[in-house]
Amino acid sequence: MTVTIVGSQLGDEGKGALVDLWGGGADVVARYQGGDNAGHTVVEDGDEYKLSLVPSGAVRDKIGVLGNGCVINLKTLFSEIDDLRERGLTPDVRVARRAHVIMPYHRVLDGIEEDAKSDSDLEAGTTGRGIGPTYEDKVGRRGVRVGDLLDPSVLRDRLEYVVPQKRALAENIFGVDTSEAFDVESLFSEYRQLGKRLTEEDMTVNAGEFLNEHLNHDSTILFEGAQGTSIDIDHGIYPYVTSSNPTAGGAATGTGISPTVIGQGEVVGIIKAYLSRVGTGPLPTELTGTDEALADHIREKGGEFGTVTGRPRRIGWLDIPMLRHATRSNGFTGLVINHIDVLAGLDEVCVGHSYDLNGEEQFTIPATTERWAECEPNLRSFDPWDSVAWSDVATEGYEAIPANAQQYLEYLTNELDTPIYAIGVGPDRAETIELVNPFDIDA
Ligand code: IMP
Repeated sequence: MTVTIVGSQLGDEGKGALVDLWGGGADVVARYQGGDNAGHTVVEDGDEYKLSLVPSGAVRDKIGVLGNGCVINLKTLFSEIDDLRERGLTPDVRVARRAHVIMPYHRVLDGIEEDAKSDSDLEAGTTGRGIGPTYEDKVGRRGVRVGDLLDPSVLRDRLEYVVPQKRALAENIFGVDTSEAFDVESLFSEYRQLGKRLTEEDMTVNAGEFLNEHLNHDSTILFEGAQGTSIDIDHGIYPYVTSSNPTAGGAATGTGISPTVIGQGEVVGIIKAYLSRVGTGPLPTELTGTDEALADHIREKGGEFGTVTGRPRRIGWLDIPMLRHATRSNGFTGLVINHIDVLAGLDEVCVGHSYDLNGEEQFTIPATTERWAECEPNLRSFDPWDSVAWSDVATEGYEAIPANAQQYLEYLTNELDTPIYAIGVGPDRAETIELVNPFDIDA
């Protein structure tokens, strides 16, 4: 049995709380894409854990796996593991030997390239973690994989091939002085050490084999997507996207579990009741101009500042064409609607029900970002709901949700033709109303 958790929008939908809630029913929690660009905040009994790479399930004593589709910054990994240990936890994290390693030169090049793009408005507003350059090298067949760190001669061969190219790129194309991030010897000694720690702590696995073995022994796996559908490299708003596949198909290619197995399980789309966006690119339902004060209010109330970078997030009304696209491309079996508490107390709540594109009504997101930028949202207005004691609502259940908020939820489930499994009414795991636990559904 598998449950795959996917972001339906632009990331930051509050996936961490659900992974944490349902991760309790799983034996293994696996990430299938992305790296330390993901910011997952898990709140447990008032204790907050901010993780960017370690799967959230590790906070709850589950085996955490970083699949082959991830890109791994080993310094972040060890620092998060060490922090969790200092706080009294015993995280069990396994890393795919096929996963690619984010090297120091990838982070430097991420910054250099974003700077170079800024003149032409093409910068994606990346998290600066070297994610894109690492995936570029993976696809260019010049990457360094976790397995390479375990074998000194392979590691040396890889570095001797790739590092001079990276140095030439930085110096000759971008005109930037290079540092030891581009020096074969210092990289070799540092990454060999990291490889030795991986071996000493017995952390590396053949992910597909490891996970399949667990499934064969009736274990349950929760696949934890990072980022969201609209910043998927294939299905997102290219080029303002991340470089991996947060969509459900990525769970198969990014772990080595077959799509048929994943398709027999549950695929749950996490939706925030409004939009937030770190990074650049168009956003048809964005609250700007005369709506700026409203955006400020939602940003403050929802704590909409990047978990990884601290940047204030852009705010918009819920974008239903974006969600229709996400529901189709992921095949959601259930939905979670988060943060309805943040919209309480407004004068009116709107959604972008469809778009107007050159006089024609569009119900889904166009395939090119340029057309998307031309879309004007057709807003649909909902009666507002008051602020209530949300922790009481969480205890009392669905019927305690204000009636107007229930109408908003019913509109969503009908438009997307998918049942709601849970509703988030606050940041703590306990502030989630669970209607269906996907692990309780028989395949
Ligand atoms: P990168 O993943 O750092 O290369 O950034 C590419 C784009 O994805 C930028 O617009 C980032 O702001 C966005 N992004 C990356 N990770 C996240 C995330 O976890 N939440 C929201 N946006 C993200």
